[in-house]
Amino acid sequence: MKIRLEIPADYREVENLTREAFWNVYRPGCTEHFVLHCYRNNPDFIPELDFVMEEDGRIIGHVMFSKAELDLPDGSARQSWTFGPISIHPDFKRKGYGIQLLDYALDKAREMGIGFLCMEGNIDFYKHAGFDLASKKNIHYHDFPKEDVVPFFLAQELIPGWLKSNGIEEATYCPPKGYFVADEDPEAFEKYEATFPKKEKLRLPGQLGYDGIILESGRIVLRPWRENDATALYKYASDPEVGPRAGWPPHKSIKESLEIIRTVFHSDTTWAIVLKETGEPGGAMGYINSDGNHHPSRAGEPLVGDWVGKPCWNKGICTEALQLMLDHIRETTDIRSLIGSHFIDNPASGRVMEKCGFVPTGETCVDETLAGSDSPMRVLRLEIL
Ligand SMILES: CC(C)(COP(=O)(O)OP(=O)(O)OC[C@H]1O[C@@H](n2cnc3c(N)ncnc32)[C@H](O)[C@@H]1OP(=O)(O)O)[C@@H](O)C(=O)NCCC(=O)NCCS
Repeated sequence: MKIRLEIPADYREVENLTREAFWNVYRPGCTEHFVLHCYRNNPDFIPELDFVMEEDGRIIGHVMFSKAELDLPDGSARQSWTFGPISIHPDFKRKGYGIQLLDYALDKAREMGIGFLCMEGNIDFYKHAGFDLASKKNIHYHDFPKEDVVPFFLAQELIPGWLKSNGIEEATYCPPKGYFVADEDPEAFEKYEATFPKKEKLRLPGQLGYDGIILESGRIVLRPWRENDATALYKYASDPEVGPRAGWPPHKSIKESLEIIRTVFHSDTTWAIVLKETGEPGGAMGYINSDGNHHPSRAGEPLVGDWVGKPCWNKGICTEALQLMLDHIRETTDIRSLIGSHFIDNPASGRVMEKCGFVPTGETCVDETLAGSDSPMRVLRLEIL
């Protein structure tokens, strides 16, 4: 792995990397690649802090810095700094590259005399590079009341004591104008975006302002999984009697449950089954594209999957959840049929599907990649009329 300054020959590759890294992460599609594209001609851009990260000759990471301002209560402004976009290619995320790139860039920034940075981001990542809530330093975020703790607004004194030595006890930060180019000139952005291969824009759980599809019936709510469900998920998914019945091994740690929430459950067709009585997720309900697995499915036919933890067994909760999801599918999609399956020695799962109108096809299948076992499964199908 190598970190070096960006050169003009890298520009297009780096903008493509930025697009790949941000696509559908915070909103459907993204605009960060356009921000970067325009920023290099912006007087706030700091070319000495414009780094790319290479692995085997391929650019897999990038970060840029910008001048910014802090507005002081007396009406004056003070020079400050910020950074971003920072991107790690999706194939290399969560492997420690982001933090290595950031640590390197922050050292270089400090060497240049940059004493204070504030920015918007996820503290779960940036805390690893020394960032904390800006409100702790009495730095406010524009657009928010001063007394608010803004959870995504972070800051760090790269040079300890920099704020005090600059006489700053309180200030307000507004991101530099350069970060808003796509909002200010949407036509220019669309023209630029059209120069890239088309990518599908998706509304996904976890994006800003997106609560996801929430469904409700008598005793339950189906809602997207959230990262802070990890403890509840672990409680039920670590039970050796639950996962293996549905074809997955018991979770071994809360960290593993969190990873499942971030990956397998990160979809707008997967829901937590939340019991109104406890407010906690007690199981999962969803459907996936069955192309490429070993079920005898029709082309494009979705495959239903569900499970509930022991406290929900034999109470009709799973049936209620499946029915709720099927009603939603009927009302909002063009799906004409769904396939489902269950291990032969787990008839309860088959009963849930039959109660919701699924009919056995008479087939069995073995789907080791999906079900993690070579035990045969009984296949059922629901025709949506
Ligand atoms: C954010 C990003 C730069 C992080 O780079 P990365 O290489 O994936 O992160 P790392 O592997 O170095 O992670 C370092 C730590 O931060 C955590 N972390 C990384 N991304 C995180 C996220 N989105 N949410 C919560 N924690 C995160 C990791 O779990 C790891 O912690 P651990 O050591 O306790 O496991 C990268 O994922 C990316 O390009 N994302 C899309 C674009 C983006 O969001 N940029 C930042 C905008 S503010």
